This record gives sequence, structure tokens and C-alpha cells, in this order.
Amino acid sequence: MDKTNDKIRRLREEKARLWKGGGEKRIEKQHAAGKLTARERVALLLDPETTQEMFLFSKHRGTAFGMAGKELPGDGVVTVGGTIDGRQVFVASQDFTVSGGSVGEMHADKICQMMDMSLKCGAPFIFVNDSGGARIQEGIDSLSGYGKIFYRNVLLSGVVPQISIIAGPCAGGAAYSPALTDFIIMVKNTGKLFITGPSVIKQVTGEDISAEELGGVYAQMTYSGVVHFVAENDEHAAQICKKLLSFLPSNNMEDPPDFGDGELTIVEDLALNQIIPDNPREPYDMREVIRRVIDNGDFLEVQDHFAANAIVGFARLNGRTVGIVGNQPMVKAGVLDIDSSDKISRFVRFCNAFNIPLVTFVDVPGFMPGIQQEYGGIIRHGAKMLFAYSAATVPKISVILRKAYGGAYLAMCGKDLGCDRVCAWPTGEIAVMGAEGAVGIVYRKEINAAEDKQAATQEFIEKYKTEFANPYVGAARNLIDDIIEPKDTRRYLSLALESLRTKRELRPHKKHGLIPL
Ligand code: HXC
Repeated sequence: MDKTNDKIRRLREEKARLWKGGGEKRIEKQHAAGKLTARERVALLLDPETTQEMFLFSKHRGTAFGMAGKELPGDGVVTVGGTIDGRQVFVASQDFTVSGGSVGEMHADKICQMMDMSLKCGAPFIFVNDSGGARIQEGIDSLSGYGKIFYRNVLLSGVVPQISIIAGPCAGGAAYSPALTDFIIMVKNTGKLFITGPSVIKQVTGEDISAEELGGVYAQMTYSGVVHFVAENDEHAAQICKKLLSFLPSNNMEDPPDFGDGELTIVEDLALNQIIPDNPREPYDMREVIRRVIDNGDFLEVQDHFAANAIVGFARLNGRTVGIVGNQPMVKAGVLDIDSSDKISRFVRFCNAFNIPLVTFVDVPGFMPGIQQEYGGIIRHGAKMLFAYSAATVPKISVILRKAYGGAYLAMCGKDLGCDRVCAWPTGEIAVMGAEGAVGIVYRKEINAAEDKQAATQEFIEKYKTEFANPYVGAARNLIDDIIEPKDTRRYLSLALESLRTKRELRPHKKHGLIPL
């Protein structure tokens, strides 16, 4: 009996010691840097009393260079299962207090086991990154560990949602694991993401830049579009993660959670009838339209500071998750360029993989003209949108608010790309190009021959607008299901979504399509 008690006491002491990670001093240092510990982060994420830790007693082999006798509690990563809002998830949270959260063989194995569990159980995987990267002493074993994580990131892709939280350094090849996941939430000031740090850049290219300017949230959200959400601190990162998961199914075999009560809440919104300015060049805020149509104006925008001429994000309609895509007339007139094409395509593919219907709000003057855009491959990038929308088999509904010009009209999920429902507001203009450009080409001879060229141009513009730049031509060809008053947009979308609830669309079997990357 005493022996058993001794063993139990020893176990308790051992666990208490290991739970302290790198010890009090390093925990203090972590807090002083504005960071929570790996376990504190897990506690913020998971429902109380649901956390089940695995591999606390994990140990490195002790055979690597300089590692003999070195104790690394939990091998620098906390791996747990638990629930968020009652739904199962698996989490790996790197412990910077233990050898800087560096990734050794066992550390990587723990992460991989969580990922395998996610895959088998159809539960989201969350990876909290706070690490000095590959554990230098473990050399090739560490690199191999990263390789195994990358491999699993790809296996899990499209099966369960994968979310990365960047709550500390995440540099070098290590940054590729978050890059392979679906969403990256990055914490301001403490999070850093880059492939090569400032000192190497200085050596190689001579460029001078601080770590924050290179790999801080501003750079990695606004310039590169690598980051999807910016968090003020660790607590905020956990909140964003939970909110995001509330919109998503746990895996690709499930539908997203339905918060509806079975009733459609349909209200007219007269303010929408006034939202489009009389002057076609005047912008308006597409976010306002989105907020007015969705449930409670609750919109979780993704990558809000990247390619802001396009808007993507999650919302609910009558309690059901929808993926929202829109042009933003307030930024570059809502034109589609390289970055906005990438942003939309990726989002559309995520929604399709996880059974989330797509609602697209269209006001697009076209694809961005320009040498930089052409040299940068606007053809290749714009084609991703055509590919992503055409390949998507989830319910697809488009609302044409104003401009829908040229290839961009199609790229914003026109009827011919398999869109299930298309409606237009009476202000909709579906045409090959804007009236000014069109008459300059089609009526050039007549305008040149006219005495008053300006008056003639104006006359042709009006004629063109009446004949082509309206929604009635498209409606006559069945490319638009209905022309509706803006105030009835929520009604249109609600009924259309309801009718598409059982949509099934089969495609020819293939290994995978070849999206132009
Ligand atoms: C082993 C490491 C480590 C690493 C940090 N530590 N990084 N140990 N391997 N990669 C240890 C430190 O020795 C220290 O141990 C503790 O972690 C805390 O580190 P500090 O330097 O004291 O912390 P700080 O000043 O906050 O600086 C953090 C840091 C810095 C910026 C991350 O440690 C750093 O630059 N580390 C090396 C980063 C790096 O080059 N990693 C390899 C990247 S390449 P003690 O015992 O003193 O507390 C890579 C390839 C992946 O990751 C390939 C995938 C294909």
C-alpha cells in the first residue's frame, strides 16, 4: 500500500515538475515578453475540463550532439486533445521555455501524432507556433521531423480544417508548416514569420530591415497575404480561432454547424435601395451591403488588409454558414488584380472543400490593366478564379449590384461557371466593357465623322447603356434568374440557399485538376 502511495506521489511530483516546462525563470521571461506559456494558451483555447494531454513524458534520445543529460520537459511542445464549444480538436502548442520550443525528433513526433489523430477522428488541428525552429543539436532528425509535419499538413488538407497561430518566432523552413495550413492567425509584436531573417538578408542582398518590418504582422498580412487574421495578443488569437471554428465543419464529410431554428428570418431593408450612388464612378462600401444582408451583421472577414479591393469572409444566413466574396468599390474601384484573384480563389477552394455555400457580390470593372500586372501573370492568377469557381460544387449564388464587365463578370461566378442562382439589382450593368471604352471602339468612325464629337460620343454612350449596360439583356438570355429590388436581397439569398440545401453535383473522376498555380 505504501509502495503504491509512493508511486502515486512520485507521479504527481513528476507531472507538476514537467508542467512547469523550462522552469519559473523562463516562464517569467516568457510573460515579460508579452507571451503566455504553451499551457496557458491551450487553456484559453479549450473548453474547461476537456483537456487531455498526451506525451508529457516524451524524451529526446540524448544521443545527439550536446544533448546528453539535457532535460527538455515534454520535449518542448504540449500536445492535447479537447473540445472547443463542445467539438473535438487536437492541439500542438510549442513551449518556448524549453529550448526555445525548438523542434527535435520527439517534438515533431508528438505534433505528427496529434495530426494523425485529427485525420482519423475528423477533428480540426490547431498548431500554436512559438519556436526557434529546427533543433540545431538534432540536425537531420529535426529536419526529418519537419518533413513529416509538412507531409501530414498536406494529408490533412481539405479533410479537416488546419489553423496555425503564430505567437512567437516561426522562421526558416518552419514557416512552411503554417503556410500549408488553411488559416494563419498572427499575434501582433510577438509573432514573426520569415524564411530568412534580417541578418542573412543583410549578408546576401545588403538590404537593411528589422525583424518586425520583415516578418511582423503588418508585412505578412498587407504585403505578402500570408497571414489571414491579426490578433492583438494571445487571448485575442484564441478568440479568433474559436470564432473561425464556429463557422466550419469539423471535417469535409460534415456540413458546417447550423445555428438556425428552421425558420427563415426575412426582412426588407429599404436602405439597400439607396446604397448605389447615382454617379457610376462613385464608390460605396460593399462591407455595408454584406453586413445588411447577413445574420446580425456578423461578418468574420479573412485577410482584411490584403488585396482590399476584394472582400472574403464567413457569415451566416438564417443560422447557416456561407462564404462571402465581394468586390470592394472603395478600393481600386473593386478591380480584380493578381493579389485579389489569389485571395478569392483560395477562399473559394476552402469553402468548396468544407461544404460551405458561396455567395458572391459583384461590382467589378474588369481585370486590372498594366504592364506590372501582365508581367506578374494576371492571366495565370485571374485564371485561378475561373478554375476555382468552376470546380466548386457547393451551392453558388451571385448578386450583381452594378458593374459586371468582361472576363471579370465571369470570374466573379457568372452563370456559365456553374453558378446556381444569379440575380441582379436594377443598377446591374453586364457588358463586355464600360460604355466609354466600348463606344470608342465600336462607333469610332461615326464619332470621328461627327461635327460635335463630344455630343456624338455622349449620344452613343447613352445608346450603349440603354441597349447593353443593364441587367435585362442577361435576364432575357436566362443568364440572370431575376432582377430584384436591393431591399429584397436577403429574401432572395435565403430562399435560394434553402432550395439548394440538397444540391449534389457530380464531376468526372480524376486524380486532381490542374489549377494554374
Ligand atoms: C536549439 C535553440 C534554438 C534552436 C533557440 N534555442 N533556438 N536551441 N535549436 N533552433 C534555445 C536557445 O539556445 C536558448 O536556450 C533558448 O532556446 C531561448 O533562446 P534565446 O536565443 O535565449 O531566445 P531569444 O533571445 O528570445 O531569441 C529567440 C530566437 C533565437 C530569435 C528564436 O533563439 C534564434 O535565433 N534561434 C535560432 C533560430 C534559427 O536559426 N533556427 C533554425 C532555423 S532553420 P537556453 O538553454 O539558453 O534557454 C529551420 C529549418 C527548418 O528551422 C527546416 C524545415 C525544412
